[in-house]
Order: sequence, then structure tokens, then C-alpha cells
Amino acid sequence: PEHRPLYGKHVLITAGPTREPIDPVRYIANRSSGKQGFAIAGAAAAAGARVTLVAGPVWLDTPPGVDRIDVESARDMADAVKKALPADAAIMVAAVSDWRSKDTSEEKIKKRGSAPPALMLTENPDILANTAAGGKRPGLLIGFAAETEDVIENAKAKRKRKGVDWIVANDVSWSDGKSVMGGADNRVHIVTANRVESLEEMPKADV
Ligand code: C5P
Repeated sequence: PEHRPLYGKHVLITAGPTREPIDPVRYIANRSSGKQGFAIAGAAAAAGARVTLVAGPVWLDTPPGVDRIDVESARDMADAVKKALPADAAIMVAAVSDWRSKDTSEEKIKKRGSAPPALMLTENPDILANTAAGGKRPGLLIGFAAETEDVIENAKAKRKRKGVDWIVANDVSWSDGKSVMGGADNRVHIVTANRVESLEEMPKADV
């Protein structure tokens, strides 16, 4: 029916931060709230799609009609995404940690001696780029890009580098004491193969 234009489609969405363990009580994460990804998941479900939402640790209610899979680390998220494919469209909104601690300690690391421990990092899998290059690439694959400078130029380069159809870029700098990260509003630039559409600032649900 006309009011459910995505009926019969499977839409896969990632949202929220990831948490990369250091020891049993500590982790590396970021300021992502998951609000934008959850809003998109809710909108896709309202448009009739079957929606799988792979969510990092966030404090948000699951939008109606959405199948939610909770994960912690980037590697957990990568596994959940692989299991959820195939999809007609995938929108990867998650702020995946680029790095994780190379080693994780089974016990809480103690403050002993004088020198603080050195944290060695290693790279996480790029879920978006791997999905683009994999055998089950969704027909429409969209990435997000949180930038603090040269937003559009970086987004254009990222779109090509990752092999995706669109990049939705947003500026996550702090201005007037607030940031898109955690906030209710967003101002995005949609970068496709042949154009850039810059939207006004608006509530994340409207984006
Ligand atoms: O390279 P950058 O992290 O800026 O790219 C952002 C886009 O890539 C987002 O769509 C994000 O969900 C995705 N991404 C990912 N796996 C990573 C890093 C980013 O899927 N390890």
C-alpha cells in the first residue's frame, strides 16, 4: 500500500557507540547516543520495512516494530551484521570504535609502581567497508560520517573509499555549548555519486 512504501523490504541499521574492553571494568567508547540510528530504524519500520537494528550500548527504547540485537564491541557488531544479511538496504549509523585495546586483561589492572600502563591499540574491522565488498552487498548501502572539519570533502572521499552509495555527513564539532552527538537535532549533508544535498538543522526523527 502507498503509505507503507517499504513493505516487503528488509532494512538493516547499526546505531550507537561500541565498547571496547580493556579489563573487566574499563572500556574505550565514544559519545554516540544512538538517537539518529534509532530514529531511522523507527522511520523505516513505520514505512513498512522489516527492520533489524544492531545496537551498541545505548539507553533508548526500541522503536515499534523493530527487531533489535544488542552488542557491545565492534567485533560483536560485525558478527551481528553478517548474520542479519541479506538486506535490501543497510544504513550504518553506528559510531564504531576505530580501535580496540590489543590485549584485554582478565583481572582489573592495578595501580602498582609509578609508571602508568601503556595502552596498545589495534584496528577494528570496518563493518561498512566489509559489507560493501562482501558477497551480500545490499542494493542500497549508506554510511554516516561524523566529522569536525572539511565535512563535505571528507564525505566525498569516504563514499568512494568505502564503496558505498551514499554518505550522510554531519558536523559533530561543539558549537554554542552543544554537539550533534547526544543532541536531539542534526544537520546533515547527503552525498551521493553525483550530488550533495545539504539539509537544514532539524530533529533527528525528521532527518
Ligand atoms: O571511517 P569512519 O569511521 O568515519 O566511517 C563512518 C562510517 O563507517 C559509519 O557509517 C560507520 O557506521 C561505519 N564504520 C563501520 N565500521 C568501522 C568504522 C566505521 O561500519 N570500524
